[in-house]
Amino acid sequence: MTLRIAPSILSADFGRLAEDIARVERGGADLLHIDVMDGRFVPNITVGVPIVRALHRVAKVPLDVHLMILEPERHIEAFADAGASMMSVHVEVSPHLHRTLEAIKALGAQAGAVLNPSTPAAMLGPVAHLVDFVLVMSVNPGFSGQAYIPESASKVRAVRDLLDEAGSNAPVEIDGGIQPGNAAEVVAAGAEILVAASAIYGTDDPTAATLQLRDAALAGTPTALRESR
Ligand code: DX5
Ligand code: ZN
Repeated sequence: MTLRIAPSILSADFGRLAEDIARVERGGADLLHIDVMDGRFVPNITVGVPIVRALHRVAKVPLDVHLMILEPERHIEAFADAGASMMSVHVEVSPHLHRTLEAIKALGAQAGAVLNPSTPAAMLGPVAHLVDFVLVMSVNPGFSGQAYIPESASKVRAVRDLLDEAGSNAPVEIDGGIQPGNAAEVVAAGAEILVAASAIYGTDDPTAATLQLRDAALAGTPTALRESR
């Protein structure tokens, strides 16, 4: 497995984004998670294509764009053109999920499917061979700083099992309420990409917080678990 830490800029200082990105990159961030919200699928409105394009100019790490919008298929080309390396769409808003995932891949980006807390893992069955990654929401999407939903680790496990059965090694990403106290648990359940906004940008030192989250997560990797026995 390859553990990746993806700080979410949702809790960063929007007046100093370039600086805040550099701070997590110094802490070894692997990806930058960008939460795009439309005020319709989720209650909040955040950023769109122009900000993604600007972040792409300053970020050294790939951009992981999480689309919390209705009709995401109408916007994937623009986000790919703006520099998204990974793009994920919610299963709940995608009646033509198969087509949308294929369209993302055709644009040269990695295609992810996202499950809300109330959406079962089984929804992914028909596209398990197609996804480049799966994002499991461990809060109801819309805001940073919410509490982790404890059943999420078993959802991660169910998704990992489903992907394994389909012969896919696509990684599972987890997003919402992730912090050093639950990082090892979700990694042990099969998560390989950890998103965190408030646990990183809600601290005085986002560089140290990024390093600390990785250290905490490493305790849940198969090798660490073996060695602790
Ligand atoms: C929630 C977003 C998350 C959010 C995570 O709707 O998808 O990416 O930024 O924030 P924390 O880590 O504070 O829960
Ligand atoms: Zn997100």
